[in-house]
Amino acid sequence: MKVIVAVDRYWGIGAKNDLLFKLPMDLLRFRALTSGHTILMGYNTLLSFPGSKPLKNRKNIVLAPEGVERDDCVIVHSMEALKEVLKGENLEQAFVVGGAMFYHTMLPYCSEALITKVDAVKQADVRFDNLDELDNWELVEKADPIDDNGYRIQFCTYINHDPKPL
Ligand SMILES: NC(=O)c1ccc[n+]([C@@H]2O[C@H](COP(=O)([O-])OP(=O)(O)OC[C@H]3O[C@@H](n4cnc5c(N)ncnc54)[C@H](OP(=O)(O)O)[C@@H]3O)[C@@H](O)[C@H]2O)c1
Repeated sequence: MKVIVAVDRYWGIGAKNDLLFKLPMDLLRFRALTSGHTILMGYNTLLSFPGSKPLKNRKNIVLAPEGVERDDCVIVHSMEALKEVLKGENLEQAFVVGGAMFYHTMLPYCSEALITKVDAVKQADVRFDNLDELDNWELVEKADPIDDNGYRIQFCTYINHDPKPL
């Protein structure tokens, strides 16, 4: 399982239940990587999507509070239920797509992190765990920086040397 996220210089990822940046190039890459596969998210992230709708051409699995029911995506109400559902998935091609709470919960189970580093500082109210401070995560790849909507961004890959089994 992989985690995919865009972070600012201090690992900020969102504010007021929205993204910090508009990054068309990053979005294209996100779409290319995740289309046809399974994406996993927390409920706030589903609500943050346009129209609060699941993303097209992907199987959307959402960890949501009790009482939330939807017929346009797979809803689970606990980590136990999520683990059950994931038994039927190809985890090699499953992506954890946010948000902060859900990233933090799922990070130990992920073997790879695709981090878009944005060279900017925003007023974030939610952050991703700083992988440079976690012993088992290692930065293994750093693409050349590119410009995306006026931001300098860099696609980075970290690997987890000790992922937890689900
Ligand atoms: N930069 C990026 O790449 C990126 C990507 C995605 C999202 N974001 C940003 O992240 C922010 C949303 O993050 P968030 O932390 O507020 O929300 P979130 O993780 O998307 O969703 C939180 C919800 O999921 C449930 N949940 C999450 N983890 C759980 C766990 N371990 N056990 C049980 N329930 C769990 C919570 O249920 P309860 O209410 O019952 O606790 C809560 O309803 C937004 O600003 C969004 O734009 C950024």
